[in-house]
Amino acid sequence: MADGVRDADDPTQGMTRGLPNYGDSGFSLFLRKAFIKGAGYTDEALDRTVVGIVNTGSGFNPCHGNMPQLIEAVKRGVMLAGGLPVDFPTISLHESFSNPTSMYLRNLMSMDTEEMINALPLDAVVLIGGCDKTVPAQLMGAASAGIPAIQLVTGSMLTGGHRGERVGACTDCRAFWGRYRGDEIDDQEISEVNSSLVGSVGTCSVMGTASTMAGIAEAMGIALPGSATPPAVTADRMRIAEQTGTRAVGIARERLTIDRILTESSFENALRVLLALGGSTNGIVHLAAVAGRLGFDLDLERFDRLSRETPVLVNLKPAGTHYMEDLHRAGGIPMLLERLRDLIDLDALTITGRTLGEELAERDTSFPQEVVRPREDPIYPAGSIAVLRGNLAPGGAIIKQAAATPELLEHTGRAVMFENSADMAERIDSEDLDVRADDVLVLKNIGPTGAPGMPEAGYIPIPKKLARQGVKDMVRISDGRMSGTARGTIVLHVSPESAIGGPLAYVRDGDTVRLSVTDRVLSLEVSDDELARRAEGQPVTRPATPARGYRKLFVDEVTQAEEGVDFRFLQAESKRGAVPRAR
Ligand code: FES
Repeated sequence: MADGVRDADDPTQGMTRGLPNYGDSGFSLFLRKAFIKGAGYTDEALDRTVVGIVNTGSGFNPCHGNMPQLIEAVKRGVMLAGGLPVDFPTISLHESFSNPTSMYLRNLMSMDTEEMINALPLDAVVLIGGCDKTVPAQLMGAASAGIPAIQLVTGSMLTGGHRGERVGACTDCRAFWGRYRGDEIDDQEISEVNSSLVGSVGTCSVMGTASTMAGIAEAMGIALPGSATPPAVTADRMRIAEQTGTRAVGIARERLTIDRILTESSFENALRVLLALGGSTNGIVHLAAVAGRLGFDLDLERFDRLSRETPVLVNLKPAGTHYMEDLHRAGGIPMLLERLRDLIDLDALTITGRTLGEELAERDTSFPQEVVRPREDPIYPAGSIAVLRGNLAPGGAIIKQAAATPELLEHTGRAVMFENSADMAERIDSEDLDVRADDVLVLKNIGPTGAPGMPEAGYIPIPKKLARQGVKDMVRISDGRMSGTARGTIVLHVSPESAIGGPLAYVRDGDTVRLSVTDRVLSLEVSDDELARRAEGQPVTRPATPARGYRKLFVDEVTQAEEGVDFRFLQAESKRGAVPRAR
């Protein structure tokens, strides 16, 4: 058998794989080939190893705007290795074109990905994703499908410029919008900024969720070494795409299935890299979901232990100052892994068939650069993301302290409570709102079930009357998420969520809330008896289950943040342990 060409007698490969059931497999194959020959294929082409390429291009997804070029390059790589590339579509999600929130649709995309992989005659699959929820959805779906899979990200957008200042989506989007709300810039300028923030197609140019997931995918070994950081419109990105196609034929031939790559070691490496990147808090939720598909629970206490010993080394917004294109020039993820050498498992297998350590040995990381800091000069010493517990969050909550105001990390204040997003939108900018700069803003009912979909509404805006006084940050608490591009002293993922009766539901205006990141505590200074009285007096009624459709499925099946907001019935049938591992 020639390299890359399937064994025609093996019924588990190529066009003979996964035939529709007509009660006669010979006829099923005859029919399949007859149809696809209608597209001009020869028998010689159809005898090859089949590599599926997941096409998530969409006119509504500019983060995937280079999809046609990427697919062409992947196909070239597959053909060079003697395989047959065939692309097919799945759902595509863009953050700004996913009502009510992209998280609501992530599980649907994962189901689409899993079922299409299962339905089609694929020996391996190239997953092309980029925008925040797409890579997690693809990894979740491919993990459940279980065939050889390799991730390719679309790459970051280029930065833009505004009046001499370099800008990029979307940390700067929020900063400029905050200045606009505080009347620091006018209508004309905010309109100019709007045209400058996104310099090209590709994913957000800071260390938001897309960049975090790209880095994580490479660190986990499911994407090629060096593949996370080339910007979307560069020659490097296209070369990575070609190499990904070539390697896809290799993993098909070697039967290098995804469960051999996504192991306890690779999840631990991913969590380390998430922390050292100063990555998005959403990365925790997504990693919990992917791990759950393979039978691993995410242990938040152990994650916090990793956090305490892992410094933030990558100087990208929102925790730092640079952008993704700078990280690429600075050596990308291999540079970071080299810096973390003693903290990561170098024996973890990667998609190349070699270990992470073997891959790193081939990289030159000795050149001077200023984006990936040395261990002795970190951006943030340790604990980029801290896990909090207390009577307000018995199931856990998190805070990205690396992007918070240091003085607010130990804070006790008066709660100013909003019942839900609509209530907040109605009152947050009211001159009558009783709020002071040292108060704690509390938003309920934006958790997985409550919203539903756990929207990124946890970045509660500073009330306009305080913004005008120059207040830039306050302690903010919710059961929702926030964008990885945002910064502030913001406690997220409070679990259990308020909509299912978590203690957050019983916070009242004027209660005293204590945040202590040093002690890892989030507490409501209200007695247990009083909380019990409130629960009895105003018991929470879970949101009514919608009558039909995906929304019904979502509300019925969604799990809490610490389980990845996945659907219960999509998690692995049996448990294999917890990540990170106990020491
Ligand atoms: Fe797609 Fe930011 S909106 S990555």
